[in-house]
Amino acid sequence: MRVVRTVAELREALRDAPRPVGLVPTMGAFHEGHLSLIRAAREENETVVVSLFVNPAQFGPSEDFGAYPRDEERDAAQAEAEGVDVLFAPPVDEVYPDGFDTTVEVGGLTDTLEGDPAHRGAEHFRGVTTVVTKLFNMAQPDRAYFGQKDAQQALVIRRLVRDLNIPVEIRVCPTIREESGLALSSRNAYLSAEERERAAAISRGLRAAEETVRAGERDAAKVLAAARAELDAAQIDPEYLELRSADDLSPVERVNGSTLLAVAARVGRARLIDNTMLGGT
Ligand code: PAJ
Repeated sequence: MRVVRTVAELREALRDAPRPVGLVPTMGAFHEGHLSLIRAAREENETVVVSLFVNPAQFGPSEDFGAYPRDEERDAAQAEAEGVDVLFAPPVDEVYPDGFDTTVEVGGLTDTLEGDPAHRGAEHFRGVTTVVTKLFNMAQPDRAYFGQKDAQQALVIRRLVRDLNIPVEIRVCPTIREESGLALSSRNAYLSAEERERAAAISRGLRAAEETVRAGERDAAKVLAAARAELDAAQIDPEYLELRSADDLSPVERVNGSTLLAVAARVGRARLIDNTMLGGT
């Protein structure tokens, strides 16, 4: 595995690399969720590039950029063990040099849920879409891998490549969970043992909603109530718990076709998000 830090070195490493090239964008602190994306990329491509960059542009001023877990040595060892060809780990000024002044913004999808000003705000997604566009231009992959864990992010990136005709196939991989159901996240590192147990109620809420839908319920309020009961029992007051169309995130009154149930909640110091698809075919 080659570890490269500049765009020039990345381009050089990829110049004669066999195609297809698969890219897995990450902010590091790898867990099985990241590794599942890397494995999917390894299976489907001749060359696998993983980017490791804690992107300051997607963190708000009161968010955890400084505290975000970083362990490049461990990440590099894991990437190497998974058969990654190139690990791209640039410093901040390689990605955002002096005078950097361009952003990429996807409309509509980005001002709701995570992008709601009351939560992370649209600037969060502007940071994501700007860095992901740059990573696509830097590595020019044939495919790129994202997790369903960040369902809105995946949707926004699909819209980005469609709207800007970026020639990359977006692959979205299932959410990897602990045995308790807790979705793996780098931010789970912030949880104490007691909080980790409490946090499992988030996925229990999603499962309860799924059960309710399986039993025939379609009314949004009733499906949400089933999820909320699990959160209440664990004294978790979600930032949002919402049913949305999985196509455009518009609110739904009834679970019909593919409906996304999305939740964000603070547990201790950690801000956690999770989701499930309901009523899909
Ligand atoms: P990061 O949080 O490091 O996540 C990297 C990728 O791993 C994302 O596509 C995310 O959806 C996926 N992922 C995280 N937890 C997962 C889980 N439990 N199961 C499956 N996949 C999971 O998301 C980002 O970084 C950044 O926003 C990035 C896209 C790299 C842009 O900076």
